[in-house]
Amino acid sequence: MARCHCRWCNVFICMCSPCICLVLLFIYASIMVCMDMQSTISPSRVIEEDRFVAPGTLRNNSFAPLPNTFWKLHWHGDAFWNHLQLSIDRHFNPILHPNTKLGFDDSTLLRQSFSEVINLDSTKKNLDKLPQHIQEFVGYMNIRDYATLIQPDGVCGAGAKDEREPPLLLLAIKTTELNFKNRQAIRQTWGQVGWMAGQKRNSSRGDEGGGYIRRVFLLGKENPEELGVDLSELLQIESQRYGDILQWNFKDTFFNLTLKDVLFWDWFSRSCSQTRFVFKGDDDVFVNTPNMITYLQEQLKKPKAHRTMKDFMVGDVIGAAIPNRVNNSKYFIPDTFYQGLYPTYAGGGGVVYSGLLAKRLHNISKRIHLFPIDDVYVGMCMIRLNVYPIHHDAFLTFDFPGKEKEERCSYHRILLVHKRNPNQIIKLWEDVKKTQTQCQGVPLRNAAKKEKKDKKPKQAKL
Ligand SMILES: *[C@@H]1O[C@H](CO)[C@@H](O)[C@H](O)[C@H]1NC(C)=O
Ligand SMILES: *[C@@H]1O[C@H](CO)[C@@H](O)[C@H](O)[C@H]1NC(C)=O
Ligand SMILES: *[C@@H]1O[C@H](CO)[C@@H](O)[C@H](O)[C@H]1NC(C)=O
Ligand SMILES: *[C@@H]1O[C@H](CO)[C@@H](O)[C@H](O)[C@H]1NC(C)=O
Ligand SMILES: *[C@@H]1O[C@H](CO)[C@@H](O)[C@H](O)[C@H]1NC(C)=O
Repeated sequence: MARCHCRWCNVFICMCSPCICLVLLFIYASIMVCMDMQSTISPSRVIEEDRFVAPGTLRNNSFAPLPNTFWKLHWHGDAFWNHLQLSIDRHFNPILHPNTKLGFDDSTLLRQSFSEVINLDSTKKNLDKLPQHIQEFVGYMNIRDYATLIQPDGVCGAGAKDEREPPLLLLAIKTTELNFKNRQAIRQTWGQVGWMAGQKRNSSRGDEGGGYIRRVFLLGKENPEELGVDLSELLQIESQRYGDILQWNFKDTFFNLTLKDVLFWDWFSRSCSQTRFVFKGDDDVFVNTPNMITYLQEQLKKPKAHRTMKDFMVGDVIGAAIPNRVNNSKYFIPDTFYQGLYPTYAGGGGVVYSGLLAKRLHNISKRIHLFPIDDVYVGMCMIRLNVYPIHHDAFLTFDFPGKEKEERCSYHRILLVHKRNPNQIIKLWEDVKKTQTQCQGVPLRNAAKKEKKDKKPKQAKL
């Protein structure tokens, strides 16, 4: 009886001791791996401001294009732009290179990666197959230091001479030499400079305050031979009269629009250190500027605003958009040029961000190759700052849904609507003024209403 018991005991020890050993070994290995990871990560624990952070570690990952499987590398090596950017992103990745020195010459790095990739045999073969206008883009995408032809009068665009506090909002509007009528309509209406009062939301609470507005128009150059006329002299006169023209010496084409962002950030960082917010948009939008002023002042009054302002961008946010692959579209991007989803971005018709963010975008843009579509490029900069734009339903970059346009007070409930021609802009501005008392206190459009009204998801750039 006792012997039998002993035998079972032996069997038990025989079976279990290897298991126990394995468990101990596993625990030991886990602890060692953990300690090792701790020691490599800790130097960059506090991830510096402008180091690339991979998607997935984002604060707001509601739109983050997460890979289906974590082991699938998003390499996309044969797409030209991805190939160019990959080495730069790797270089500034705080996990791969925790000790990379910040602040050295980023433009050298961009140029280096460009000449390396463009000289590969495989790239040369693929480049020939790209459509003509993309080949042209590639030919110039490495250049971004174009001369300034016309500078605005004021330090930071046209504004009131007697500003008693830093400007609240700089309106930076993309336009072309030809669109004089658009500029003039904007100057007379929503783009007036100087002190502007906010929108009173509550008669009982009295005046909602206001802020100083400044304005600058962003232009490239038309080719007089192609255009048939030379408008540069008229633009000079316009600039002397209004002092709000900022023109650079590059051809004003759709694929060169990204240059306006990059060069604007450069100018802004040097000239507009005090400006609180930037509106950047097209010259065919209507902005309810009083609403915008009140909305922005509310943001400044929020608790912790001094910390959140460095990340502040608001607009019509488009998430997980697929590049347009229809070859006759203006937005066509072939998969030999770019693969993968676009990062979350705010539609370029009109977007507002803080002056602080503009300066950070300026810094990070020196590490990101130009991309032909301007608002997507801004999204590419944002994701590398680990910042997400905030969506607001009062930015209507795809116009009003359904019949909402005809509703009473519809234009009092928005911050921006695209697209309106100069005559419409002038008419709308007058209408909004006329219906002021009638529509006083209507709230801005918001998400709750949107859920009821348009369930349809937005399609970007199709
Ligand atoms: C307007 O005032 C009323 C009471 O005075 C208040 O309940 C309401 O929240 C205010 N609305 C806004 C938009 O401030
Ligand atoms: C951008 O501007 C440059 C300089 O004027 C011009 O040579 C180039 O063709 C333009 N690029 C595109 C894609 O239009
Ligand atoms: C555009 O696509 C169509 C079909 O998808 C094709 O037949 C055509 O050749 C393409 N055009 C160009 C310029 O690539
Ligand atoms: C931008 O970069 C410069 C030079 O590296 C630095 O001094 C500045 O603080 C940076 N600005 C922001 C807003 O990060
Ligand atoms: C995060 O995204 C959601 C949309 O899914 C949005 O409602 C929210 O405001 C965003 N938060 C920040 C901080 O941007």
